Amino acid sequence: MTNTMQETIEAVKKSFQADLDSFPTDSREIDALKSKYFGRKGALANLFSQMGKISPEERPNAGKLINDLKQELTEIFAAKVAKLIDTSNQSTENVDYTLPGEMQRTGTIHPVTKTLQEVKDIFKSIGFMVAYGPEIDDDYHNFTALNFPQHHPARDMQDTFFVQKDVVLRTHTSNVQIHLMEHTEPPLRYIVPGRVYRNEAISFKSYCLFHQIEGLVVDKYISFADLKGTLEYFVKRVFGNDVRMRFRPSFFPFTEPSAEVDIWDDNRQQWLEILGCGMVDPAVFENVGYDTNIWHGYAFGLGIERIAMLKYGITDIRLFFQGDKRFLEQF
Ligand code: PHE
Repeated sequence: MTNTMQETIEAVKKSFQADLDSFPTDSREIDALKSKYFGRKGALANLFSQMGKISPEERPNAGKLINDLKQELTEIFAAKVAKLIDTSNQSTENVDYTLPGEMQRTGTIHPVTKTLQEVKDIFKSIGFMVAYGPEIDDDYHNFTALNFPQHHPARDMQDTFFVQKDVVLRTHTSNVQIHLMEHTEPPLRYIVPGRVYRNEAISFKSYCLFHQIEGLVVDKYISFADLKGTLEYFVKRVFGNDVRMRFRPSFFPFTEPSAEVDIWDDNRQQWLEILGCGMVDPAVFENVGYDTNIWHGYAFGLGIERIAMLKYGITDIRLFFQGDKRFLEQF
């Protein structure tokens, strides 16, 4: 065999050996190295292409040498790559199990939702059913049918968000009293949770949007004592038997007599109103076609944010609507 062939084979071996010593770990560089030797224009292909120059007698021997070389280099190369994959697998085994874990952050239940749920559960446990009604309603259900006189200040632009003439964002959940009675024969005993909207001055205790739970009970022998007893029971279940509460005479067009309930706010050292209530005004029953000689009833409207403020010692209603996680994560 010609010396040059022998020498070329040696040269390829040497260069391969050198490349093995600085074998890359980057897959693109490994690919480049692979084609340097095994590619169509690689070192081995180049050796094969020189076969033509060799005399026919020497050709079989030279062919065998090159083939052996090819096999040897292929095996070494494959082993090298396999080892690399192996060690990269091993590195996942080198996890430090003593490192602190990464906490998965989960959401929390909003204090308004929590309070709503608790209030609902209490009334459900004493026989109230739950109903819902529209947040956008006509003037008739939000005001007229509830016995608001045509020029009552509550209908004023100052308190009410108008969507169109005669269409409003409800200012209270009392609109659902009318919807319920229009579709249900008495007796009835319902609570109605929902959002209400008021265009009034925003302060620590008032916001343009808040939540109420309306209560409505209609039956044959219902008195103010039933109303008082039910609300006292409710307040004690939420705030405990030692709660300081008071009924204060008030006025609503749709109840007569009417009252408001205040709870002593220890944080501010003052009374905080949490609900309005009263005996359903017979004018309202007439508007829905109930016989006022047979049916009597009471109604109330609880402010959920106010209850949550007292329960959790929150001193500003605006916090409920800001979505600040530092606030919300405390509940
Ligand atoms: N709707 C009244 C309010 O929003 C509360 C209320 C409800 C009063 C039912 C009496 C009866 O202030």
